[in-house]
Amino acid sequence: MEIILAKTAGFCFGVKRAVETVYKQLAENKEGKIYTYGPIIHNEEVIKDMESKGIIVLRTEEELKQIKDGTVIIRSHGVPRHICDYLEEKQISYVDATCPFVKKIHKIVMEESAKGSYIVIVGNGSHPEVEGIKGWAGSSATVISDAEDAEKFSAPPGKRVCVVAQTTYNYNKFKELVEIISEKGYDIIVLNTICSATKERQEEAADIAKRVDAMIVIGDKHSSNTQKLFEICNHACNNTYYIQTLDDFDMNQLRSVETVGITAGASTPNNIIEEVQNNVRINF
Ligand code: F3S
Repeated sequence: MEIILAKTAGFCFGVKRAVETVYKQLAENKEGKIYTYGPIIHNEEVIKDMESKGIIVLRTEEELKQIKDGTVIIRSHGVPRHICDYLEEKQISYVDATCPFVKKIHKIVMEESAKGSYIVIVGNGSHPEVEGIKGWAGSSATVISDAEDAEKFSAPPGKRVCVVAQTTYNYNKFKELVEIISEKGYDIIVLNTICSATKERQEEAADIAKRVDAMIVIGDKHSSNTQKLFEICNHACNNTYYIQTLDDFDMNQLRSVETVGITAGASTPNNIIEEVQNNVRINF
């Protein structure tokens, strides 16, 4: 049997950096509690491992406001500005593991709104990354998630409009929404802040899925980028399996296949990918 493992499977740069930050803090910080604000990534296995080593996950702002000391790690999605201001004001130490690509968007919206621009964030309004970006954009900001929002959008008169995107947003959809906004005749500046890691992973997955008899997509059930990856692969190969870990997979399903493709979402750790790959290899 031939196994094709996607080169882009697993942690992207920002997730890897955030996870490493947590383990580095665990190794260096011998005293005091270590918290993450929100789960550091969407992967139950990784979070369970971190919790077993003493990491405490703060899930809400209320929980954050109850702590008096310790170190808070900010996850790769980033947080609104008022969270950083709060931690500084209360002198609670924090380590910012926001992905640098997301941080760059914070900087853009902060600078543009200081110049008087009206900020438009194209993305999913309930996603923590978008909530974070909005929290750096001042009061003149709105989120647009579909064509209907774009049609309805109007900026205050005389304001320049600055458009940015959620890093994982689909490029074609972004272009479509930007076109709708552009037609309204505003003085507009568009910054494509979509991260190429997602696109590259999806393109490679689609390419492999087309060529194999069976495809395995590994990732947490709650990870939206893994769900999307599964949809893409399933479309190209109707023998596609979505698993969280090796335990979810029945090897018998591969009995009659000759080629297997493997990919994984951005929050799937390498050891899980390797375990699946090795077991497929051993069994056939
Ligand atoms: Fe950062 Fe791109 Fe990953 S924005 S967290 S490297 S998907």
